[in-house]
Amino acid sequence: MDKLIPVVVIKELSETEKVMKALQNHGINCAEITFRTACAADAIALACEKFPDMNVGAGTVINAEQCKAALAAGAKFIVSPGLSVDVAKVCKENDVPYYPGCVTPTEIMQALDLGITIVKFFPANVYGGLKALKALSAPFPQIKFIPTGGVDRSNLDEFLAFEKVYAVGGSFMVKEALDKYN
Ligand code: 3PG
Repeated sequence: MDKLIPVVVIKELSETEKVMKALQNHGINCAEITFRTACAADAIALACEKFPDMNVGAGTVINAEQCKAALAAGAKFIVSPGLSVDVAKVCKENDVPYYPGCVTPTEIMQALDLGITIVKFFPANVYGGLKALKALSAPFPQIKFIPTGGVDRSNLDEFLAFEKVYAVGGSFMVKEALDKYN
């Protein structure tokens, strides 16, 4: 997985190629296309077809049905804002990485029970940021985090510098890419 995971919202399917191209030009080889819009699955399929070398996954996946649609479209990883046992099951069956949102010790323990050791930490700015990640890493040294939500250029480097940070997610990368390459 790349160190930077752009959180992408595609409102119209026709925007997909423009956004993916801008990310690629920006040096980002990954995209988490979110199930917040009706065309999410189609956008994932299109992105996979046109950008086969990019790591295209699905975000905001909140149930098994969306997860199955994302995998059918070609998603290579699945991200949720919280933890869904049903989604975890579908991902396991399909051997696809699942990054559930976990911000409490209980949620992290649920993830561990499901065999998951990389979790999204969302919204990172609200749930204590780097300070919280450091505190949670004491009892859970086997866990790696993907802080997302309120991450931007001002705090990106300090998150990336922490060894327990697997990657950082955010929409700011999409905005940057589009501002620069559109
Ligand atoms: C997400 O779903 O991960 C967030 O909407 C991303 O948060 P951001 O817009 O603050 O980066």
